[in-house]
Amino acid sequence: MANIIVLFSSSRQNGNTRNFIDQIAIQLETIDIFVEIIDLEQYHFSDFDYKHKNKNDDFSPLFEKILPCPIIIFATPVYWYAVPPQMKRFLDRISDYLICPQLSDKGRQLRGKTAYIVCTSVKEHASETYLNALKETFAYLGMQYGGYIHADCSEGYLAEQQDNAIMLFSHLFKTQKA
Ligand SMILES: Cc1cc2nc3c(=O)[nH]c(=O)nc-3n(C[C@H](O)[C@H](O)[C@H](O)COP(=O)(O)O)c2cc1C
Repeated sequence: MANIIVLFSSSRQNGNTRNFIDQIAIQLETIDIFVEIIDLEQYHFSDFDYKHKNKNDDFSPLFEKILPCPIIIFATPVYWYAVPPQMKRFLDRISDYLICPQLSDKGRQLRGKTAYIVCTSVKEHASETYLNALKETFAYLGMQYGGYIHADCSEGYLAEQQDNAIMLFSHLFKTQKA
């Protein structure tokens, strides 16, 4: 089993954010921390539905796949100070596991997991609005927040400029290895 699961969402499957998380995963492997990257765009699940008519789509198998993993990285670009639509849809659908009595035991298993953020944008610093929305979501779900790393991609994704930041970020995981 991977030590860390990455939930990756972007409108570009091989864009800046994917390059960033791939470089981070390679660095983590050098310190024997193994990462599984899940591209949310490969899963077909619909918006939250109060009537739960979508209960047989791809969301439940995906959610239950991440449950055994103690560390989850949320990796996305910043799109209008927020996460991309498929990540927002994923977060909305976690509500199924808070609301449905037959699922709530599994929903509670998020408590105690540690969440990290990997993000890219065209600004020097990550948007606080974006970060806070995720941090508040983690807190509501009972997840610990471990930290974030951001790449300024105003000139495109420049891998060599990220080496030092990735090195520092990867050290955060050394003490948390599953
Ligand atoms: C729809 C859209 C909205 C964006 N909104 C922001 C934004 O609010 N702040 C910002 O700094 N960059 C914004 N950007 C730029 C992206 O965050 C940046 O180019 C990112 O690295 C793209 O990553 P990707 O290749 O994985 O899509 C936006 C880009 C798009 C396409």
